[in-house]
Amino acid sequence: MEFKNTLYEKKEGIATVIINRPKALNALNEETLLEISSRIADAKQDENVKVIIITGAGDRAFCAGADLNMMKGATAYKGMRLSQIGQKVTREIEDIGKPVIAVINGYALGGGLELAMACDLRIAAENAQMGQPEVNVGLIPGWGGTQRLPRFVGKGKAKEMIFTGKRIDAKTAEQIMLVNLVVPLEQLKSAAKELAQDLMNKPPIALQLTKQLINNSTETDLKIGLTNEAEAFGVLSSTEDFKEGVSAFLEKRKPQYQGK
Ligand code: HXC
Repeated sequence: MEFKNTLYEKKEGIATVIINRPKALNALNEETLLEISSRIADAKQDENVKVIIITGAGDRAFCAGADLNMMKGATAYKGMRLSQIGQKVTREIEDIGKPVIAVINGYALGGGLELAMACDLRIAAENAQMGQPEVNVGLIPGWGGTQRLPRFVGKGKAKEMIFTGKRIDAKTAEQIMLVNLVVPLEQLKSAAKELAQDLMNKPPIALQLTKQLINNSTETDLKIGLTNEAEAFGVLSSTEDFKEGVSAFLEKRKPQYQGK
């Protein structure tokens, strides 16, 4: 596959996917979505990759949403297919089994916010702005926004954001728990690296199962969710990492987890 619209680097256990269309504020066309999908697949299979970061090139935008140029003259079928392609990528991010951090370096609008919401954690620069402006062009969010946004902020706030299309700033996004952390733009990269490194030192199987359980918590009833939790707890109790964690605690040293 030829990569034209994304950059990808793997360093010290962290894979970074950079949406690289800064002139179009990193808007996502079909090719870019396919490139992200391919990068995610690589990060998934590479045992050396422990944490994934998704961000945008430049300092103006994480991603300004679906590329509106490709949506001109869409038919019902084409529109549905476009929605499905983006939904597939967001599901791939949720299913990767490793922590994914969205590093929001500016606008995260429409499909851009939907991409960020599929990640596990979100760090935003102070200048970032987020919103679901699709209503302004006669659309609705199509990459999971009507489903994931209310899961973050509740139905009322989600309806307000999607009905009005208004943008919110990073601090407001933090207050409504849409982002985990807000830092000045110049500290964004180092804050993301610090968080990624912190996660790299954690036991990978515990992170994987936590991700799965929490993602599924909104899909299952409490009884099934608790059963799943107990089973995962059982699995973790039999891991080498658990033995290492306890030994390290008793020996007053830092644990070295192997993901076994
Ligand atoms: C294509 C885009 C774009 C987009 C920005 N650009 N957003 N191109 N698709 N979503 C391009 C502009 O056309 C422009 O190109 C360049 O990026 C810079 O943008 P400006 O508008 O000149 O910048 P500014 O005035 O600072 O305004 C920034 C902005 C605005 C507020 C982010 O660009 C904007 O409102 N963009 C649209 C955001 C949006 O509606 N997103 C949702 C899309 S629908 P030129 O060539 O003129 O320099 C969606 C649905 C997902 O995401 C689900 C699909 C199934």
